[in-house]
Amino acid sequence: MKGLVLAGGLGTRLRPLTSITNKHLLPVYDAPMIYYPLRSLVEAGIEDIMIVCGGNHAGEFLRLLGNGAEFGLKHLNYTYQQDEGGIAEALGLCEHFVDGEKAVVFLGDNIVESSIAEAVRDFEKQDGGARILLKEVEDPRDYGVVKFDDEGNIAKIIEKPVDPPSNFAVVGIYMYSPDVFDIVKRLEPSQRGELEITDVNNAYLERGELRFSKLDGWWADAGASIDAYYETVKVVGESIRRRK
Ligand code: DAU
Repeated sequence: MKGLVLAGGLGTRLRPLTSITNKHLLPVYDAPMIYYPLRSLVEAGIEDIMIVCGGNHAGEFLRLLGNGAEFGLKHLNYTYQQDEGGIAEALGLCEHFVDGEKAVVFLGDNIVESSIAEAVRDFEKQDGGARILLKEVEDPRDYGVVKFDDEGNIAKIIEKPVDPPSNFAVVGIYMYSPDVFDIVKRLEPSQRGELEITDVNNAYLERGELRFSKLDGWWADAGASIDAYYETVKVVGESIRRRK
């Protein structure tokens, strides 16, 4: 199983904080933002990891993370996304690295309290397709949101709906079989000019190959807005202090 941390994009929603550094290097309590997704992957037993850097200051990722020794890794792999073509475009850059294996994709601004190890194990056993993680939130309008059918199966995922069909948001942690790269190659840019990860997940859904797990504990999307960033710092800080 390969791990991919997507840390491309320009972080425009957090400007001017992101004018002189990369969003994923901003502090979240006592560690840079990107430490959290990396720790989650390593804790779930994934040690073969590629980081997609992008935008300005991409060289700083290498300076900060090096070969990943601080995370108990022997090696870290890096690639670079030229522009801000979307999450699915960043994923597409990892095809040569994934090399026919299954992969866990972790958005570089997502932080979770609980281990993802069980969901990863379930996906290992899963016969192909994809697995997403869902979390019930108060206001899901900033996220991909799930519409359920009468049997409680996912009927559709809608990206940032004005009128959400449920309170279940799609967390920025996705598990894919290697055929995801064929799906990515067939995507068309959305209205905002990006290759959308929600279109990838809906493609699996149409084939009947999308499963989901519900995420325990809190979930934070630190990059959604300046308010989300500060809320994340607060939640992470409280959680770390509780454990001390
Ligand atoms: O956080 C979960 C949400 O993430 C999902 O619920 C949404 O369905 C999904 O589209 C995504 O929404 P965001 O608006 O939060 O995505 P954002 O543009 O903030 O990108 C999230 C991370 O993905 C970002 O920290 C780095 C990576 N990324 C993003 C873009 C646009 C890239 O690596 N390259 C990119 O071009």
